[in-house]
Amino acid sequence: MIDPATDTVLITGAAGAIGSALRQGLRANWRHLRLTDIRPIEKLSENEEASITDIGDRLAIERMMRGVRAVVHLAGVLGNYDLEALFRVNARGLFDVFESARLAGVERIIFASSNHAFGCYPITEPVSPEWPARPDSLYGVFKVLGETMLRNYYDRHGIQSVSLRIGTFRTQPIDQRSLATWLSPADVAQLVDVSLRHPDPGCLVVNGYSNNTRLRTEDPNWAMLGYRPTDNAEDHRDMLRAQGVDVDSADRGQWEWPEHGGSHARAAERPARRS
Ligand SMILES: NC(=O)c1ccc[n+]([C@@H]2O[C@H](COP(=O)([O-])OP(=O)(O)OC[C@H]3O[C@@H](n4cnc5c(N)ncnc54)[C@H](O)[C@@H]3O)[C@@H](O)[C@H]2O)c1
Repeated sequence: MIDPATDTVLITGAAGAIGSALRQGLRANWRHLRLTDIRPIEKLSENEEASITDIGDRLAIERMMRGVRAVVHLAGVLGNYDLEALFRVNARGLFDVFESARLAGVERIIFASSNHAFGCYPITEPVSPEWPARPDSLYGVFKVLGETMLRNYYDRHGIQSVSLRIGTFRTQPIDQRSLATWLSPADVAQLVDVSLRHPDPGCLVVNGYSNNTRLRTEDPNWAMLGYRPTDNAEDHRDMLRAQGVDVDSADRGQWEWPEHGGSHARAAERPARRS
């Protein structure tokens, strides 16, 4: 178990959307958070220290690992990334963060993976993290790379890890698909908190969703971790309907995206699949 009262936790990508939600959710109970990002990290509290560092600066990342017991690795490019940035940050940067952690004796890594690691499964299939990965894009492939490295770190070096296959992280759901895939700020903080505190997670992959009525996934590992999400995207259904979002046709099996990965299932770096 990583002890909130005594241990230092490093969060990469701490200036981002999820990093900000985590700081909000963790800082009251965790003694010492070390934060890093390539962008400034605003409004530090007394138990937070921050540095502005590019993930490509291996020496700086190694220095940052000193005295750290657990790493939450969030830094990455997403959305409208270009291929060079994806390789540099989500592959090479991932490698450098994980290797620096291993060499420094870090005992646990929590990794922001993605539902794009299994995005090619049809949304009608209740995918479990125990099923084989089916990444929908190069972005998803690099998330599977991270999960696979962590498997190797556990088998070869005993480093425990939890890879979170995050769905749609936002303050509120944004479209029809996110009624199934939403992860709220409070729930992501709880998911990371239980992943850090668990006495023996081994090498675990879990889905990162809220308690959505329309979940299209199964996850036995939620119970094992003690994750009990409290938010439900369905509570925002009327708000979405008022915005003109078609919230109903999915109930008849007509999902706006027929695969778990949504638009990433048709990512730009890949030609359209022939049926
Ligand atoms: N938001 C989602 O719905 C979602 C879903 C699945 C997975 N994820 C993953 O969660 C993580 C965090 O996502 P987010 O939504 O907070 O995104 P975000 O873009 O808000 O945060 C990512 C952070 O990484 C930082 N970063 C990018 N390049 C960097 C570099 N070279 N060096 C150091 N820092 C760098 C950015 O400055 C940013 O603050 C990402 O790895 C993302 O792939 C997010």
